[in-house]
Amino acid sequence: MRKVAKGFGLLAGWSGTPDFLDAERSFGTLLFAPDDAGEALGFGGTLRRGPVTHLGDLFVLPEHQSSGVGRTLPAELLCGNGPTVTFASSDPRAIALYVRYGLRPWTPLLYLTGPTAGLPTPPVRRTRAEDVAALDALASGGDRRATLAWYADLPGVTMYATDRGYAAVRQTGHNVMIGPAGGATPQHCADAVLGALATTEARTARIAVPGTHPLVPALLGAGWHIADMDTLMADVP
Ligand SMILES: CC(C)(COP(=O)(O)OP(=O)(O)OC[C@H]1O[C@@H](n2cnc3c(N)ncnc32)[C@H](O)[C@@H]1OP(=O)(O)O)[C@@H](O)C(=O)NCCC(=O)NCCS
Repeated sequence: MRKVAKGFGLLAGWSGTPDFLDAERSFGTLLFAPDDAGEALGFGGTLRRGPVTHLGDLFVLPEHQSSGVGRTLPAELLCGNGPTVTFASSDPRAIALYVRYGLRPWTPLLYLTGPTAGLPTPPVRRTRAEDVAALDALASGGDRRATLAWYADLPGVTMYATDRGYAAVRQTGHNVMIGPAGGATPQHCADAVLGALATTEARTARIAVPGTHPLVPALLGAGWHIADMDTLMADVP
């Protein structure tokens, strides 16, 4: 599965293992579609948070696309009872496939990148994964304290909090990756993210945010760029 993932550049932000495939294997479901020799033609992965299933990956090798491989995987991956959410790529086959499983496109998911300087600097304090787990469950729709603890233990990860928001920062080379982040309201999340950005010595950062989030005008107004875009899909609004 890592061979397929590498072909799509999915492991670029990970310096080694454990990586997000390990997280899906530990805290969700990771499946591959094999060829006759048992090699992966494609794979899919989910993460669970309480009742919510987040489909995190669905990738088929280019030479085997459009031959029915991708369509088989969600049938097994999305068999839970609770709500389902995913970030669909710009490949029209992805949105079409997820619509068949009851999901609908709600808003763009913007992958923003930009300078860490020149932004408001709300105060934050360092915190531990277990101290933000309840707020994270509220913001994300379900409890994922084991996944949060796993993430917080990775090299280069620091968690920050305000009174009603939190944000994780992960150092990846000269860059930092922000998230997961959340709060009692989207504005509380935005304050925690801005505070976390102010703590880092890295010059540039990356974050994925729904298009309707208050961070979008704040970051684009400060000169950030949209590096990529998915579509946030879910089966309940
Ligand atoms: C998206 C992806 C996982 C789908 O897997 P796949 O094996 O190629 O897809 P399948 O052959 O199982 O099914 C594709 C379906 O999309 C339909 N489709 C193709 N183009 C379409 C379009 N423009 N609009 C609507 N439906 C379309 C096909 O008709 C087919 O349905 P059918 O089998 O009932 O005819 C795969 O193409 C892929 O890896 N793409 C690149 C990576 C990517 O973007 N992954 C999605 C991450 S969210």
